[in-house]
Amino acid sequence: MNMNLLVKNIGTIVGIDESGRSRVAGKAMGEIATLENAWLLTDGTRIKDYGTMESLPGVEGYALIDAKGGWLFPSFCDSHTHIVYAGSREQEFLDKINGLSYEEIAKRGGGILNSADRLHDTPEEELYRQAMERIEEIVAMGTGLVEIKSGYGLTLEDELKILRVIRRIKETAPLEVRATFLGAHAVGRAYKGRQAEYVEHVCNDMIPAVAAERLADFVDVFCDRGFFTPEETAKIIETGARYGLRAKIHANELAVSGGVEVGVAHSALSVDHLESMGDEQIEALHGSDTMPTMLPGCAFFLGITYPPARKMIDAGLAVALASDFNPGTAPSGNMRFVTSLASIKMKMTPAEALNAATLNSACAMGESKDFGSITRGKMANFYITKPLPSLAFMPYAHQTPIIERVILKGKEYFSAKKTK
Ligand code: NIG
Ligand code: FE
Repeated sequence: MNMNLLVKNIGTIVGIDESGRSRVAGKAMGEIATLENAWLLTDGTRIKDYGTMESLPGVEGYALIDAKGGWLFPSFCDSHTHIVYAGSREQEFLDKINGLSYEEIAKRGGGILNSADRLHDTPEEELYRQAMERIEEIVAMGTGLVEIKSGYGLTLEDELKILRVIRRIKETAPLEVRATFLGAHAVGRAYKGRQAEYVEHVCNDMIPAVAAERLADFVDVFCDRGFFTPEETAKIIETGARYGLRAKIHANELAVSGGVEVGVAHSALSVDHLESMGDEQIEALHGSDTMPTMLPGCAFFLGITYPPARKMIDAGLAVALASDFNPGTAPSGNMRFVTSLASIKMKMTPAEALNAATLNSACAMGESKDFGSITRGKMANFYITKPLPSLAFMPYAHQTPIIERVILKGKEYFSAKKTK
């Protein structure tokens, strides 16, 4: 049982929301509620109350943190990662420097298949150890809820293996975890040239086995040029739906792939990437609950066009941000840097970027009820920074370490001060 925690002398609480909304869209994304000179109290695991320092409650019986004018932010929600992978892929990084594209590397049998080979050769225990190092990294950088995909197995056995590692992370990590089955990330080597049969295998064998062990919350498909078609995607997400798995789709990274439309038609929780978007694709998202999710760390790393975030927000849509943490296209889970890229490269204001990386990203996991803002009754997931001159300082001074303390589910996880 955690002790109730009282944080006092908070310079500014950012991201307060008592409206009960699950997402924030369009113009409203540019606003984020704050409270200056404040305190915040937890009931052990959830946020109980907050107010200004004039109304500070008696401190007896609480674990006390003095924020000393530092700011308090809701933890980042990272709705799209591939954190469980074996080793790394710097060779492809060098290939890219020397002029090969992501698709060319994939066609030569590198890319996802390269990670699948390594995962096959790596024991579960070692995979867990490597993934937990990355988890520790993202926790220290302010992430409190993360989605993790499979998709480096690509055989029934290895997909179960990676999903079991994700389950173990779920059970042992301090942050909240959601698991996604991504068997259709690429065609497994054994099915080379037999893509239709591989899709059958995903639907008839993998999804039922994953569901039988309750290893996944969601199902995903890489719906893109050179990977899976919208028809194959529809088949897989319809099968997933029969097993209670909601869809999150990799769409329009490499081309206008039909992934957005198939996601919207099947009420997917989110369509992610969106580097290739036309006006029709933006139009297709109107009136749908599917959350368009952008992963600017991928465009940054691959040197491709960034998604048209500005256009989408101006068109009244909600958008989410996530890291895509993976060895091939985004080897970092730093959500603060993701918000910086959103501001610098996609012209999102700091408030828009923060809303996209908290409440809207929680929404992309169906979790806004419990995560994504400073709200009475929501999970006590937040971090405390040094005193900041303004909100814009966050994305502006993008490499300055500012996070001093991380509180997850009401418990202090990490304190930069303590380790000094
Ligand atoms: O989201 N695009 C597909 N999947 C990952 C990349 C995976 C990899 O290259 O290992 C992504 O970018
Ligand atoms: Fe991805």
